[in-house]
Amino acid sequence: MKTLVTGGAGFIGSNLVDGLLQAGHQVVVVDDLSTGSRENVSKQAAFCQETILNKDGLQAIFSREKPDFVCHYAAQIDVRKSVSDPQHDAAVNIIGGLNVLQCSLKVGVRKLVYVSTGGAVYGDPAYIPVDENHPVRPLCPYGVSKHALEHYLHLHAVNDGLRYTVLRYPNVYGPRQNPKGEAGVIAIFTDKMMQGQRPTIFGDGTQTRDYTFVGDVVAANLLALEKGESEIFNIGTGVESTVLDIVETLNDLLGTHIEPILAPARVGEVYRIALSAERAKSVLGWHPKHDLKAGLKKTVDYYKSVSQ
Ligand SMILES: NC(=O)c1ccc[n+]([C@@H]2O[C@H](COP(=O)([O-])OP(=O)(O)OC[C@H]3O[C@@H](n4cnc5c(N)ncnc54)[C@H](O)[C@@H]3O)[C@@H](O)[C@H]2O)c1
Repeated sequence: MKTLVTGGAGFIGSNLVDGLLQAGHQVVVVDDLSTGSRENVSKQAAFCQETILNKDGLQAIFSREKPDFVCHYAAQIDVRKSVSDPQHDAAVNIIGGLNVLQCSLKVGVRKLVYVSTGGAVYGDPAYIPVDENHPVRPLCPYGVSKHALEHYLHLHAVNDGLRYTVLRYPNVYGPRQNPKGEAGVIAIFTDKMMQGQRPTIFGDGTQTRDYTFVGDVVAANLLALEKGESEIFNIGTGVESTVLDIVETLNDLLGTHIEPILAPARVGEVYRIALSAERAKSVLGWHPKHDLKAGLKKTVDYYKSVSQ
């Protein structure tokens, strides 16, 4: 079984690569290293440095490798960048995504698993936890562009027989998340607090998210290779945690008493969200195995091991 992972040098993609290798897949990674890193990619995986915006280059890789499965993770993921440069966001997430989709169709892949975002497509929730029937009304260009590819997948399933599954991830955290980026509050806070520094909260800290451990979303992706055809699944714990909860749990795990700095809230971010994964539980047989404390413990252990 050969699986091609776009964005496989990034945070979640590289964890998926490890999961696929463990499950016995041959793995090919396509990544332009714009935010990912070569060191994230297991030596057991083949690596191709290429942008998904170069359709000819991408097609050449697909034609050579002939993957059975494609897991599409490459994306422009920064919400604030999507606000300041929506053209670039749309280019990578829509045009790049369409390139991946068309290359997949051309070589006749068994299935394309596309990772969308439950945190950004729904907008401000009318109810919580949000299920897949909730209206889609994104508040940022990133949510719009990630959602757009879901429509192309459906269209090509109906017209060309493409087999696909969409996974809408919540706020994912864990090993290899970049603590120097703009997004990824847990990575940023863990890094700062391990150095004894005060993390900055944008807003009053009562905003909630559905924080889900990366190992759990990787498990969902592995299940989606064989199940849930032409369906959209929320993946998440269904539990709302505040940013203040994160600071408190990190203080607990690190044995510190660090107070956060409060700064004005940012544009384009929802105030509360958690995702209902009932459909994924019944159709994929997926269940999250880590609550916030268990996942944060593994995350802190990881950052400790790489800082030594
Ligand atoms: N991190 C989260 O909480 C979260 C939540 C919901 C959905 N997602 C989705 O999961 C996927 C992975 O996110 P992540 O958090 O691991 O981010 P990441 O930035 O660590 O990974 C994205 C990867 O894609 C690569 N990439 C970007 N543009 C590319 C291009 N034009 N061509 C080839 N490669 C390119 C980057 O170099 C990087 O390795 C994305 O599709 C994102 O939308 C993430």
